[in-house]
Amino acid sequence: MNLKNKKIIVTGGAGFLGRHIIQQLIEKEKVLEENISVPRSKTYDLRKLKSVEKLFRDFNADIVIHLATTAAGIGHNKEHPAELYLDTLLMGTYMMEQARLNNVKKFVAVGSAIAYPASAPIPLEEKDFWDGLPEKTLAPFGLATRILAVQAQAYRQQYGFNAIYIIPANIYGPGDSLDPEKSHVIPSAIMRIDTAIRNGMDRIEAWGSGNASREFLYIKDAARGIIAALKTYNGSEPVNLSSGMEITMKDLYNKISRLMDYRGIIIWNVAKPEGQLRRCMNGSKAREEFDFQAKTGFDEGLKSTVEWYLRNIGK
Ligand SMILES: NC(=O)c1ccc[n+]([C@@H]2O[C@H](COP(=O)([O-])OP(=O)(O)OC[C@H]3O[C@@H](n4cnc5c(N)ncnc54)[C@H](OP(=O)(O)O)[C@@H]3O)[C@@H](O)[C@H]2O)c1
Repeated sequence: MNLKNKKIIVTGGAGFLGRHIIQQLIEKEKVLEENISVPRSKTYDLRKLKSVEKLFRDFNADIVIHLATTAAGIGHNKEHPAELYLDTLLMGTYMMEQARLNNVKKFVAVGSAIAYPASAPIPLEEKDFWDGLPEKTLAPFGLATRILAVQAQAYRQQYGFNAIYIIPANIYGPGDSLDPEKSHVIPSAIMRIDTAIRNGMDRIEAWGSGNASREFLYIKDAARGIIAALKTYNGSEPVNLSSGMEITMKDLYNKISRLMDYRGIIIWNVAKPEGQLRRCMNGSKAREEFDFQAKTGFDEGLKSTVEWYLRNIGK
């Protein structure tokens, strides 16, 4: 699919992933800026049907990339299970239904690995996506985001609606949220270490045992993967966007400490949540279906993230 003259709604387009996707749509895909609509939550609260109806009246879209979310880091998600459940469910349901009613040609839903069954073998493979329930403590978000994949399949089957569901690994990189209440693991680690350096602290606390591992996908790769899926993939099954880069929290903190020249001790607080012990994904389906492979090495991506942080603190 050539995107050049397409009109595209990017919900959550002012967020971390959204800003990078829009940049690539404009710079690489030559989409005109005026052909991209970013419905901000203040003007279009997508949890409300009337707002979603208005959005489609105001902007005649060919494509929807649905990124709007109230999910954030693990602490925030565990403290707001009800909000997360309802926000995810309402925004996804209304957006896809109104997209269908307004003759949208392609709908890209972006999911989360939390939607996978807790019992699925690691690395996570798409064939196991339906085979059990998400981890209990994260199920309010896990199930609500999985429902979007159910809706996509049902709409494809009954209406021939072209909705796809893409599941990125944990995304990191320049532009991530630096709100301490909401930040993901990498910016949170960078901020804790920076605070320790500034205050001359010789120890910092981090959550969990440090043995949990996660896979991280660099933001520019994530944006490129979602655009590649939008252009090429028209299947009913979810597809992982994976980097193949899995690291334990201890190793991650050590790497960031080295990059920031922090020599203090990291104390692991096992009373704080750390989620599943391992989470990483198999990326072969994305390679086969839309030729996606992550290009950015983890050390390179982490370095550019720390450099971005240091350039932006205090701004
Ligand atoms: N970041 C990751 O590590 C990661 C990993 C896997 C999957 N994903 C998925 O990728 C997508 C984007 O994530 P992100 O990290 O870019 O999120 P983000 O930076 O937190 O951005 C979320 C955006 O959602 C919008 N939003 C929230 N509530 C809204 C509402 N009621 N109405 C309209 N818009 C609303 C916000 O818009 P305003 O600014 O206008 O309020 C915000 O810009 C999500 O589906 C997420 O689950 C992210």
